[in-house]
Amino acid sequence: MLGGPKSSLLRALSVLLLAWALVGGQALLPEEEEEMEEVFEEEEEELVAGKTAVVCPPECSCRDGVVDCAGVDLTMFPEEIPVNTRQLSLQNNQIEVVTVDHLSSLHRLETLNLQNNWLSTEGLEDEGFEVLEQLAYLYLANNRLTLAPRHLPRSLVSADFAANQLTKIYPYTFGDKPSLKSVYLHNNKLSDAGLPDIMFNGSASLEILIMSSNFLHLVPSNLPSSLHRLHLKSNKLEKIPPGAFHNLTNLRELYLQDNLLSNDGMDNLTFSQLSSLECLDLSNNNLSVVPSGLPRSLVLLHLEKNAIREIPKDALASVKNLEYLLLHNNQLRSRSIHPMAFQGLKKLHTLHMYNNLLERVPRGLPRRAKTLMILHNAISEIGRNDLIFLYTLIELNLSYNRLTNSKLNRDAFRKLRVLETLDLSGNALQAVPLGLPRSLQVLRIKDNKLSSVPDGALAGLAKLKEINLSNNQLKLNSVYQGAWMELSSLTTLDLSGNLLSHIPSDLPESLEYLHLASNRISSVPPSAFQGTPNLKGIFLRSNRLSVDSVSEGALAFLTQLQVLDLGRESPEFPPFRPGDRLQEKEEGMEEEEETF
Ligand SMILES: *[C@@H]1O[C@H](CO)[C@@H](O)[C@H](O)[C@H]1NC(C)=O
Ligand SMILES: *[C@@H]1O[C@H](CO)[C@@H](O)[C@H](O)[C@H]1NC(C)=O
Ligand SMILES: *[C@@H]1O[C@H](CO)[C@@H](O)[C@H](O)[C@H]1NC(C)=O
Ligand SMILES: *[C@@H]1O[C@H](CO)[C@@H](O)[C@H](O)[C@H]1NC(C)=O
Ligand SMILES: *[C@@H]1O[C@H](CO)[C@@H](O)[C@H](O)[C@H]1NC(C)=O
Ligand SMILES: *[C@@H]1O[C@H](CO)[C@@H](O)[C@H](O)[C@H]1NC(C)=O
Repeated sequence: MLGGPKSSLLRALSVLLLAWALVGGQALLPEEEEEMEEVFEEEEEELVAGKTAVVCPPECSCRDGVVDCAGVDLTMFPEEIPVNTRQLSLQNNQIEVVTVDHLSSLHRLETLNLQNNWLSTEGLEDEGFEVLEQLAYLYLANNRLTLAPRHLPRSLVSADFAANQLTKIYPYTFGDKPSLKSVYLHNNKLSDAGLPDIMFNGSASLEILIMSSNFLHLVPSNLPSSLHRLHLKSNKLEKIPPGAFHNLTNLRELYLQDNLLSNDGMDNLTFSQLSSLECLDLSNNNLSVVPSGLPRSLVLLHLEKNAIREIPKDALASVKNLEYLLLHNNQLRSRSIHPMAFQGLKKLHTLHMYNNLLERVPRGLPRRAKTLMILHNAISEIGRNDLIFLYTLIELNLSYNRLTNSKLNRDAFRKLRVLETLDLSGNALQAVPLGLPRSLQVLRIKDNKLSSVPDGALAGLAKLKEINLSNNQLKLNSVYQGAWMELSSLTTLDLSGNLLSHIPSDLPESLEYLHLASNRISSVPPSAFQGTPNLKGIFLRSNRLSVDSVSEGALAFLTQLQVLDLGRESPEFPPFRPGDRLQEKEEGMEEEEETF
């Protein structure tokens, strides 16, 4: 989803790429006057040094102030870097030492990329950076630094120290940098004591601060109010000190997931001043109640993987713009969700409450919901009016609950007029329920105890494209005559893992994929697919077919057929043996008995 670790990584990457693009763009700008000046200067220096050739380290390429020595197995900082260099790429090498001397002549350096080298704090003489008065972009990620440089140039715009072993930041590492916009410090070993009191004093342009995967117990204090994005995921945060976020009125994205935050560690004012906040991730913490005082601007709220037992009446009253609410993997029971809790959430369209302890569909669900994920709960009953206000629902996932036919009201779905996807898999249904919405396109009732498709259950489902009834106990005569034929848009029918003894005879012409694996089918007569000329895939593995029980004629006219899976070649399904016929007869009798 939107807030996953992957996406934050991608965002971080895209910011880096953007930074590169900007720098690259600048490097290509034809600043002719300056270039001429540089050439002049170079010549002058060469004369002084008594050389004739244009300077460029042998392993590198040098052009227009850009020196590229990336990934060329350097173990030492290259000699003879042109003094007019603005962009120096040294990433992906094995450089262990960078001294003042190395950097002292590079006054024009704007971008220094030392990412992915073998630099340790001892190997990095940080006085070197002070002379780089134009340095804007500094990339030191993936090295072996244990302490941050004490002073970085005032011109800094972006600094990447991710994936080092930093335990300490100094006041002027990032302080007094009026242009500083982004700082990446994730995957280090920073604890509270390793941060200065005011880490960004005089750095009032900072927009992005990434400090995920460190050892922080407290949210850093005195963060600049310019921040747009603050990532503190995977630390050891237990409490958020009062006022910690009070000045962050520009913050749009706050990641606090994978910490130890409990409700005791915050109050109703903790988040209330974050008047631009759109995304708040508090997942995988130790919350027991939905926090209150959330800002009105919030669009996406992650509260999954906590120990939330309760949603009080007013907890969500302020978040009128909320669109996504993720509450899965908590301990919610239906009665501990206040019936007014979702009232007024007119923009909320996606609600995830799977893996909770719900016994019923909660009352007062948001009326504009489009996706409702309440699978993996303990729902055993759906009353006549439980779903009555969900007119806009498009997807309803009720799989892996405890539904039985007797407690599923036959009018329960009547108001779901635009529902397209219904998943009732993994319940204890014995019959396909009546009263399914006619708008359905996908219906899954796999892994139940279905032994019947009662008369009319599939009637009118003219939009249904896919139906999965696999792993049930359906026999040929447990499905009412003409059931499939009515499904005039059906392309995929999955009846695998049932007790069918023959291929159903009344399949719709639209059908493209027919899954009948693991049944008891013993023959494919010539007429089997006469009504289904559009079949592209037929799956008959693990049945009771022998070579001569599949009529060649049955397949001859299936011009679209791409896959015919009979499982013959598979050693798991031994070829037909004469003894099997006996068994088959017994089952045939069983089925006949049932028809009485
Ligand atoms: C913050 O920076 C200002 C100057 O920009 C300075 O006067 C002040 O002492 C600094 N505060 C701390 C705590 O370093
Ligand atoms: C918020 O900003 C005000 C003024 O800029 C400052 O006095 C106060 O200390 C700041 N609060 C925090 C928690 O940073
Ligand atoms: C915050 O909680 C306190 C008590 O815990 C209460 O008195 C106060 O009214 C609440 N404020 C808001 C804005 O909900
Ligand atoms: C979770 O919070 C409760 C209080 O709400 C506390 O008793 C418990 O120790 C916390 N668990 C962890 C792992 O922090
Ligand atoms: C219901 O949710 C489960 C778990 O996310 C998913 O695997 C399944 O595909 C969903 N059902 C439908 C019909 O999308
Ligand atoms: C139907 O459900 C079964 C069981 O989960 C699954 O293996 C199969 O792929 C599904 N069929 C289709 C056509 O998606």
